Amino acid sequence: MPLHELEPGRFKADFNKRPFQIRHDLVNHPAFTLERLVELARKHPAELVEYNAGDLPLTQDPTKTPRTGLSIEETVKRIREAKSWMVLKRVERDPTYKQALDDCLDQIEPLAPGMRTRRAFIFISSPGSVTPYHIDHEYNFLLQIQGTKTMTIFDPAVLDEQAIERFYRGEHRNLVFDQSLQDQAQTFVLKPGEGVHVPVNAPHYVLVGPEASVSFSITFRTPEGDRRSAVYQVNDKLRRLGLRPRPVGRAPLVDRAKYLGYALYERAQKALGRS
Ligand SMILES: [Fe+2]
Repeated sequence: MPLHELEPGRFKADFNKRPFQIRHDLVNHPAFTLERLVELARKHPAELVEYNAGDLPLTQDPTKTPRTGLSIEETVKRIREAKSWMVLKRVERDPTYKQALDDCLDQIEPLAPGMRTRRAFIFISSPGSVTPYHIDHEYNFLLQIQGTKTMTIFDPAVLDEQAIERFYRGEHRNLVFDQSLQDQAQTFVLKPGEGVHVPVNAPHYVLVGPEASVSFSITFRTPEGDRRSAVYQVNDKLRRLGLRPRPVGRAPLVDRAKYLGYALYERAQKALGRS
């Protein structure tokens, strides 16, 4: 039972509505020592590793993100001084990390009906590195393993609808940070053994403290979340046809009709062998 203090009442009230802090006991798990992470990084498929310089601004044009010139393995070995930020994606491909992921999500699943597409990510970051302001499409619990990390999280309502639509169209996750929103943020300073829930599409940025940081991010999707994603994609298409679609969540019946249209279209594409 790696997660602590998962109160069902609190979870039901806040899950995917607002961020909340949790605790876990993965800090001394042998899979997260630097030696094991070097070993994992060495054999992990390169296309599932994203890494770059860590000293970035909150607003980062993803086409201009600076590199460090180091290899993946060197970056992990020298993470304390590499001034780098790295994520190893889909680490559940390795049975040890899959077990750790499942041990956590098995605790959450009764509270998140329809949980599917379980995925795990490991973030390895140099002291002081920055994850620029961005959104993600999964339900996320970020568990801090080593070092400290400050997560600054905003309500998705601060974003204009078109920014979310562009993300679901396939544009990069990074967003332009508007400093005037800062006082609407919720900030969580995570020490090892602490974690935070990041709701779907809740924009956030992350600052690593004075030591190298290792975090384990456990994510999943649900049928409801996937329906919302589909409606954003439909709205993006409608907007590009010159229409002004009703924002997601404003009219549930309209959303449902859009989703059904999307699902029929996808099914037809599959039948035609195009998807
Ligand atoms: Fe994120």
